[in-house]
Amino acid sequence: MKTEAAVLYGMGAAAPYARSQPLRIEEVDLADPGPGEVLVEVAAAGLCHSDLSVIDGTRPRVMPMVMGHEAAGVVRELGPGTTGFGVGDHVVFAFVPACGHCLPCGTGRAALCENGARANSAGTLLSGNTRFTNARGERLHHHLGVSAFSRHTVAAAESLVRIPDDLPLHTAALFGCAVMTGVGAVLNTARVEAGTAVAVFGLGGVGLAAVIGARAAGAGPIVAVDVVASKLELAVRCGATDVVDAARVDPVAAVREFTRGGADTAIECAGIERVLVQAYEATRRGGTTVTVGLPHPSRQFSVPSVTLVTEERTVKGSYMGSAVPRRDIPRYVAMHQGGRLPVDLLFTDTVRLGDINEAFDRLARGEAVRQIVRFQ
Ligand SMILES: NC(=O)c1ccc[n+]([C@@H]2O[C@H](COP(=O)([O-])OP(=O)(O)OC[C@H]3O[C@@H](n4cnc5c(N)ncnc54)[C@H](O)[C@@H]3O)[C@@H](O)[C@H]2O)c1
Ligand SMILES: [Zn+2]
Ligand SMILES: [Zn+2]
Repeated sequence: MKTEAAVLYGMGAAAPYARSQPLRIEEVDLADPGPGEVLVEVAAAGLCHSDLSVIDGTRPRVMPMVMGHEAAGVVRELGPGTTGFGVGDHVVFAFVPACGHCLPCGTGRAALCENGARANSAGTLLSGNTRFTNARGERLHHHLGVSAFSRHTVAAAESLVRIPDDLPLHTAALFGCAVMTGVGAVLNTARVEAGTAVAVFGLGGVGLAAVIGARAAGAGPIVAVDVVASKLELAVRCGATDVVDAARVDPVAAVREFTRGGADTAIECAGIERVLVQAYEATRRGGTTVTVGLPHPSRQFSVPSVTLVTEERTVKGSYMGSAVPRRDIPRYVAMHQGGRLPVDLLFTDTVRLGDINEAFDRLARGEAVRQIVRFQ
């Protein structure tokens, strides 16, 4: 079939993207779903900093690629032998397909699926195939098995999680990345306990979801740190008890003061290694620092290693919220529907696919949290 998609042909275009237009909106060919695959009509797709990081070259990927990895939609067709889904099902995409039989999958660490990671690096579906071609017959790669900046897409069944029909699809999209990552970092990676002090550095979609998750876990105080004032106001609505403008004051000293000596858990969601060091320094003795941000692979961070020993500090990475998507997305949806995860606060605006480059400029400038491309 023909569909309309946002295709990235090369990384590192000059900003502003409104001028350089790195994403081209094109009519492309989408092949039928193969065995174990599903054709999905995308209803809503969020713009995440990880898409921006591919566009600007911070997260190198194989080109050309149909971008987008945070989305929800409706199943339209099943490939031969595909089970577990029916036409008309509402689904959220998980951006690591979990094969179910590698060692990480077998030990409950679906976010680290080896076959999923291999396919994502290659820009293919879990099967190793690609399904998009452009008008010149060039094969286009899949972004994290999702490629949601397209009216229709084909994904492995392992990339999909069924959700209730009564959850609006533009809200559901947020669960695919921001919510699974931010809430998962709190509940799965850090295992934040009620009554403990949490600091969140970087208040985009992911960081604000971490604030919401910390609130749901009963943490307190919850200190939220950013360099953009509007993000701080939003963080309070998400459940932060205290906010720090890191453009004006030393965030380490401020967090240590609000938490009376340091946070039990600090979560870095800015994607800047200097901020990761600040998060580490803002924890108390025995504290845990969770890093979620994705700086360029060449970036390094440095802390006095002896403090890991004498102060029993922990630094943990959190990919996709250390989630098992088929376990966690239904849980987080239920928490949302029960009023405990007010994730609609992450929604900034709806954008048309044709205006996506301008929308990425707004994300890069810190002017937006989650902007959602609506196809329906
Ligand atoms: N680990 C994962 O699985 C995963 C998933 C999604 C996104 N990410 C990464 O997480 C990061 C956040 O993603 P997002 O979509 O929320 O991004 P975003 O651009 O919406 O938010 C980043 C925030 O960091 C703030 N910031 C910038 N400099 C800062 C500083 N010095 N101190 C404090 N805050 C600062 C910005 O103002 C912004 O609010 C990115 O690096 C992204 O690639 C990781
Ligand atoms: Zn993302
Ligand atoms: Zn696996």
